[in-house]
Amino acid sequence: MTRVAILGATGSIGQLARDVVASHPGRFELVGMAAGTRVEPLAEAASQEAPWLRLRWLNVATAEARERLEALLPPAQKAGVEITVGEDGLVAMAQAPEVDLVVVAVVGFAGLAPTLAALRAGKRVALATKESLVVAGHLVREAWRGGKGELFPVDSEHSALWQLLEGARQRPSRLYLTASGGPFRTASREAMAQATVEETLRHPTWSMGPKITVDSATLMNKGFEVLEAAWLFDMELDRIHVVVHPQSIVHALVAWPDGSLTAQLAVPHMRLPVERAMLYPDGAVESVPALDPTTLGTLHFEPVDRARFPLLDAAYHAGKLGGTYPAVLNAADEIAVQAFLDGRIRLVDIERVVHQVLERHESHDAPDLETIREADRWARHEAEDLCQVLEGRSRVRS
Ligand SMILES: NC(=O)c1ccc[n+]([C@@H]2O[C@H](COP(=O)([O-])OP(=O)(O)OC[C@H]3O[C@@H](n4cnc5c(N)ncnc54)[C@H](OP(=O)(O)O)[C@@H]3O)[C@@H](O)[C@H]2O)c1
Repeated sequence: MTRVAILGATGSIGQLARDVVASHPGRFELVGMAAGTRVEPLAEAASQEAPWLRLRWLNVATAEARERLEALLPPAQKAGVEITVGEDGLVAMAQAPEVDLVVVAVVGFAGLAPTLAALRAGKRVALATKESLVVAGHLVREAWRGGKGELFPVDSEHSALWQLLEGARQRPSRLYLTASGGPFRTASREAMAQATVEETLRHPTWSMGPKITVDSATLMNKGFEVLEAAWLFDMELDRIHVVVHPQSIVHALVAWPDGSLTAQLAVPHMRLPVERAMLYPDGAVESVPALDPTTLGTLHFEPVDRARFPLLDAAYHAGKLGGTYPAVLNAADEIAVQAFLDGRIRLVDIERVVHQVLERHESHDAPDLETIREADRWARHEAEDLCQVLEGRSRVRS
């Protein structure tokens, strides 16, 4: 029996992780769940009558959310459950002795501290929150490699690479991450400048939370994935490439020294990587419908148009500079994406905010967690100031 805590339990990945728990009777026990402030779906998930639900902890982001959650939960469901608030509660849950597997699927910087805590406590971690590796890859790797914890990627491309590289007898020459290209793959810069939130959230192949969907439209998400792959697979950034593949059937490719390429193909659904990470070392069965190669037709690949998607290069740049630059990249992007989702700035303003905050930053080498937090706070503040300026300008324009 594997005792599971799901951080980000109400999100797109968190929901899939709960489905995996429910569909393997006798294999998992769900002992903890965390969410941000949307307490209704959390209360609903916590109130289920299911033999695998043995809750000991619930966590939400604010004290106000805890009050709302407590009001929603029937007394029987609250008995024996500790309801905690914020990062301390996430960390306590992630490192509790009664937890074996931690699914980290919260969005953004909030995933870092519990990822580190779980690995340091020797847990198995199914990591969806790529931001943890982006902002503090060296700390996550130290916690992972230096202890008994295990780290399994949940991102589809990294799960594919994990499958392709398992048992490899040679070091690969290059890794390729595929990108669908998002809703603006063929759009002009002018069209991207006018893009609405609704158009941006209409992803052609994947159904995901709003932050990652916007990041997919700007290819910032692919930039984050490049940094994630570098830490997970110990690969130089110059040897990690991105190739546009609109069908999202091929998830990753590995180039070998003999000149061959191997590829992983699957129906684009996150159930597969989530289930693979949670069941390891056992394999998943019928996670997604099997692919019939005779029905695939032509698979299309093309290079990224880097002029139209400059955030991809910004990620390589920040990754090569290292220090606190990747944390600043992430924080500036989080603020700018939220400002876009709130209708305050344009889609193309996200890259302006990210570039300017990176330019203003003075990095620290080999930062510890506190230094990374400080850089994160600084970048959020700078990014918010820039968003306010851009918002003011667009009001003047309209
Ligand atoms: N979706 C995908 O297909 C996919 C694929 C690969 C990787 N990922 C990565 O997985 C992570 C989650 O993505 P998602 O698409 O599942 O996002 P999502 O649907 O937006 O869900 C985010 C989850 O995080 C919770 N949350 C937000 N702020 C929090 C905080 N401060 N403390 C604790 N929990 C908080 C949310 O709670 P509320 O519901 O209360 O807001 C929700 O449960 C991201 O890092 C993303 O990059 C996602």
